[in-house]
Amino acid sequence: MATKIKFQAIRGTRDLLPPETAVWNRVEQTAHSVFATFGFGEIRVPIFESTDLFARAVGGETDIVSKEMYSFTDGPVGLLQRLDFSNVGQFLDEIAEKLQRDEIPKTAENTLTIERAKEVFAAFKKASGKIPVSAFASSSESDSLKEYTEMAYEAIYLANRISTGDSVSLRPEATASVCRAYIEHNMQQLPQPVKLYCMGPMFRRERPQKGRYRQFYQIDAEVLEAVRKEVASGEWRVASKELAKDAAVDAEVIQMVMTFFDKLELQGVQLDINSIGDRNCRPKYVELLRAELQKVKDKLGPDSQRRIETNPLRVLDSKVKEEQSIIENLPRIGDHLCDECAENYKAVKRELDLRGVKYGENWRLVRGLDYYMRTTFEITAQGLGSQNAVCGGGRYDGLVELLGGPPTKGIGFAIGEDRLILSLQESGKEVASGEWRVASGRLGVDVYVAWMGGSAYATAIRAAKDLRKAGFSVELPPVEQKFGKALGQADKLGAKYALILGENEVASGEWTLKTLADGSQLKLPEPALIDHLRKSKAVSS
Ligand code: HAM
Repeated sequence: MATKIKFQAIRGTRDLLPPETAVWNRVEQTAHSVFATFGFGEIRVPIFESTDLFARAVGGETDIVSKEMYSFTDGPVGLLQRLDFSNVGQFLDEIAEKLQRDEIPKTAENTLTIERAKEVFAAFKKASGKIPVSAFASSSESDSLKEYTEMAYEAIYLANRISTGDSVSLRPEATASVCRAYIEHNMQQLPQPVKLYCMGPMFRRERPQKGRYRQFYQIDAEVLEAVRKEVASGEWRVASKELAKDAAVDAEVIQMVMTFFDKLELQGVQLDINSIGDRNCRPKYVELLRAELQKVKDKLGPDSQRRIETNPLRVLDSKVKEEQSIIENLPRIGDHLCDECAENYKAVKRELDLRGVKYGENWRLVRGLDYYMRTTFEITAQGLGSQNAVCGGGRYDGLVELLGGPPTKGIGFAIGEDRLILSLQESGKEVASGEWRVASGRLGVDVYVAWMGGSAYATAIRAAKDLRKAGFSVELPPVEQKFGKALGQADKLGAKYALILGENEVASGEWTLKTLADGSQLKLPEPALIDHLRKSKAVSS
């Protein structure tokens, strides 16, 4: 008999259940409507993409790409996936054939690995024929058995090393995919800028904790704008005009996310902004920072020490207590911006002021992805503990070009939806405005159809159909229930009304509607009853 296994959601993933999912839907609905008022259209991109896309866009040295991606090989169809003693031979035959037909990468490494694996497997087959069955039971012959098993394991090991296709990864973020799609669909030919948003799950192998999951959800928005030729060549007067325009675009994107949070009544919202310079000034600043960090290297922890070489800017992100006083004395990027970046940063602040968007400046805000330049920002909210960033974003001019597209500017952000909802729940705002139907565990049933007697059943089915068509949430019990039990069940489900359909009601055509909150009853013919429900719903919402 098969052993009983109790499966559980994988660490860092979770089920979202009703009624909480109604809160998620409402948040997403609000995003759809607020983003539409800013002229954004929805894009849906695949959950997995080429690993190289993320490595190139987000950066090979970043934590996200170097440690946290869920990557696997996307090989030809029909190949065996789980190899063992019994099927590795068949696998090697198939793979050799696919190599001939160019269905798997014809690299020198693959050719050699397949050859070697076949040799080992042939030796294993030969040896296995010679091993007497008794060897499996007798310890005296264990040496030949050991050799035989080792050969099989080596063949399996080698077979698993064969690259059967390209590496793909579950998306850890959406910006890279949106840029890839912009290029793939020649969106530079559309009226510019192109404003897109998307939402859905992202995947990062992080240490799970409150507000940090391995499958989490983002609401992401991006503005992409192909650069005109004269701007790309950097003519200064045009460039200056462009800097002011970029600042206005940045501010509007930030204003959009703040408007969204405002609409949701998110509490304790704080916006931090910074400029991290561009390819002119940042490299010089990074070198200066590296040199200064070298001087205090011994006082830093192992992570920061490593980052002096790989990415000194990330040291500024450090939360290690002992490092804080050292970091405070490091050179600040704001003092080392080139003229263009300084002008642009000033303009961003002016544009935010014009829009009445409140912000704080945080020179240590550098972000953990490589593609940013100039404007970066992060938004925190209350009730989230250490993982309190609900949104991060910034400008990434040049990323589309890096991915093989035309010179293009970009700015965007991603909201952590899990954290956003956690914060709304912590402050009791998930049921904020009158539109929010789902409160404290209620599934939002409007009418429970309490039918009694075989002849009432057909009428109950029809009533449920008509009420649902009119937009009410209806619960129709599949079996007849006694009156008391039906009302008890209606109560448990939090229904607003019980529609009582007994043989009398069916015969007279006058149905009984009981309001569960106060126990009052009304007798009404069907059309009037639906009308009555409609009116009372309009009053309560
Ligand atoms: P990010 O800062 O890596 O930026 O992520 C944005 C937000 O996603 C974070 O502020 C956080 O709320 C949420 N988040 C990230 N990791 C997790 C996790 N493991 N569990 C729960 N929530 C998480 C980006 O992803 C950029 N693509 C944003 C962007 C768009 N920049 C320009 N355009």
